[in-house]
Amino acid sequence: MTERTGTPAKERPSSAASVASSTIRMERLAKRYPMGDEVVHALDGIDFCVDEGEFVAIVGLSGSGKTTLMNIIGLLDVPDDGTYTLDGQDVALLADNELADLRNRSIGFVFQSFNLLGSLTALENVKLPLTYRGTRPREADATARRYLAKVGLEGRERHLPSQLSGGQQQRVAIARALVGEPRIILADEPTGALDSHTSVEIMELFKSLHREGQTVILITHNPDLAEQAERVVRIADGRLGASEHGHEGVRLAVCDTAGGNDAAPATAVARAAAEREGEAHATRANG
Ligand SMILES: Nc1ncnc2c1ncn2[C@@H]1O[C@H](COP(=O)(O)OP(=O)(O)OP(=O)(O)O)[C@@H](O)[C@H]1O
Ligand SMILES: [Mg+2]
Repeated sequence: MTERTGTPAKERPSSAASVASSTIRMERLAKRYPMGDEVVHALDGIDFCVDEGEFVAIVGLSGSGKTTLMNIIGLLDVPDDGTYTLDGQDVALLADNELADLRNRSIGFVFQSFNLLGSLTALENVKLPLTYRGTRPREADATARRYLAKVGLEGRERHLPSQLSGGQQQRVAIARALVGEPRIILADEPTGALDSHTSVEIMELFKSLHREGQTVILITHNPDLAEQAERVVRIADGRLGASEHGHEGVRLAVCDTAGGNDAAPATAVARAAAEREGEAHATRANG
């Protein structure tokens, strides 16, 4: 069963967002895969909330459902049951183009295998999300350079992925994830292909992004990495629970029950904000 270990609001780390609705809110989420006569319950009744500015690790063994969950959080896949609200939007109500727009605006992905385009330079890789959303080339160029510098890769703009170390490639991927200023960075085993020294550097980068207010969700099978997050939840057999690795004083609750079950007012506020952002985005793209 999913654990709920509610912690009084005053004991939670203060963040502006903790008074608003959760950035991510999942209720009774399920994902099943039919396999011949059997059904794999990849996700089995997930209740999970993430507030703006949190650094949450999801830790679990191979096959526990981590990537399935990440794909749903990242709007790459849809659940069979339950509800998922991202930035105040019930994603089940969105058309494909609206989902793509929300994904582009809200989520920055970081993968174990970097997923860079080998024929593009570091700068061109980082620019891609901006190009997709119609940012003017000069602005996209300047922004991408700024994010490459932010991840410590000034001077590497014209290198191809094959001319960079693994850690540097992952930094390019993180810059690419950040460049669109997404609400959430979603990282699935981001250090899985890196040596331990480089892994530490990449974790330090995530921690510094979190200190700047970035919401980060880290998915890993490695408890040592997970422990470095602000909050840790464990997934086993498609079910989430609070982990014993949570830091003292940090809330372990999977969902904020104190936030109220009636998320409608906050949802309306978030939707209005998203609409304003959408209008501003359209103005930028057209102007
Ligand atoms: N497309 C699919 N078809 C059938 N079963 C699937 C599919 N994708 C995942 N599964 C099953 O769902 C369960 C969860 O898989 P998932 O990939 O989410 O695990 P994971 O925690 O990411 O594992 P790993 O640490 O090995 O990446 C597994 O039992 C897996 O076999
Ligand atoms: Mg996986």
